[in-house]
Amino acid sequence: MSDRPAVLVTGGAGYIGSHACRALAAAGFRPIVYDNLSTGHRGFVSGTLVVGDLVDKAMLARVFAQHDIAAVMHFAAASLVGESMTDPQKYYLNNVAGTLSLLAAMRDAGCRRLVFSSSGAVYGQADSKALPETYPCAPINTYGASKWMTERMIADYRAAYGLGAFCLRYFNASGADASGDIGELRENETHLVPRAMMALQGHLPDFAIFGEDYDTPDGTAIRDYVHVTDLAAAHLAALKLLMQGDAGGAFNLGTGNGFSVRQILAAIAAETGREVPHVIKPRRAGDPAYLVADPTAARKVLNFTPEHSDLATIIRTAWAWHQKAHPLRLG
Ligand code: UFG
Repeated sequence: MSDRPAVLVTGGAGYIGSHACRALAAAGFRPIVYDNLSTGHRGFVSGTLVVGDLVDKAMLARVFAQHDIAAVMHFAAASLVGESMTDPQKYYLNNVAGTLSLLAAMRDAGCRRLVFSSSGAVYGQADSKALPETYPCAPINTYGASKWMTERMIADYRAAYGLGAFCLRYFNASGADASGDIGELRENETHLVPRAMMALQGHLPDFAIFGEDYDTPDGTAIRDYVHVTDLAAAHLAALKLLMQGDAGGAFNLGTGNGFSVRQILAAIAAETGREVPHVIKPRRAGDPAYLVADPTAARKVLNFTPEHSDLATIIRTAWAWHQKAHPLRLG
């Protein structure tokens, strides 16, 4: 046994969850990773690993009975915007039904602290300016809809059952841990930065810019890229507030700065000294033109001051990881 508080980390073998586990362990917590390893990697796990699925209620109940769980960080989810449009059932099952199963297990076990991975995708087709949390949530893809539905469930649990919960709306998570041990690694990679780097390495024959006819200065879509290490720090800050009795709320995690696809490719070329080979393809279904956070509230409440989220640090750490990680060493 340990006197370090245990934190259940669903999806702790995945990209953002594994970085959060590192931050938890460094801050004196004991991560208990709960992951079905469908996309996560055993080698990414810090702490105890329980292989299980969110919809397995009996397994979740056993985990709560076995460990004195002080709080839950809930990362486990299907998280690809494009896939969510062609396979919505997967998203409602994993993300909405899976979270309901977790909320029920938490309630049964009397665990009342939750940090939930939400997404900037809850806003949908946004204006071309930074979005505060008060901007209406009207997702335009199934992934965003599944996160918004989950936020609604959490709000109701908060009101009715006294759950303390932070919903952290990440914008575009990117970069890798400074150690170079963990980073983005997916069998089916769809994200811009890793795909561009895989193309540079010759691992991807068909890298494309999806749409150059958006109403943006260079015609390509604009996003707010935020370093995964900064996201992990925000989770820790939210957890500490919950431990002090804070009721939580929904907060944007982004930098407030938007970069186009072409600007990202230029930053990669500047870091690596090589142009990313690409073609132009039509827009991807479900992609908004512009999605940038107003992080004022997170700065105030979570003391969110992203220190690693400048484009150069994001690209440098991601490239270091990619050079180490490929050819894919999954498992
Ligand atoms: N893109 C390309 N080519 C690629 C991959 C992506 O041009 O090969 C473009 C996309 O069309 C988009 C931008 O690069 O305009 C970023 O795409 P990503 O797939 O990297 O990220 P998304 O913006 O689609 O989604 C990410 C997270 C979601 C989150 C969302 C919120 O994956 O979880 O950001 O901003 F909800």
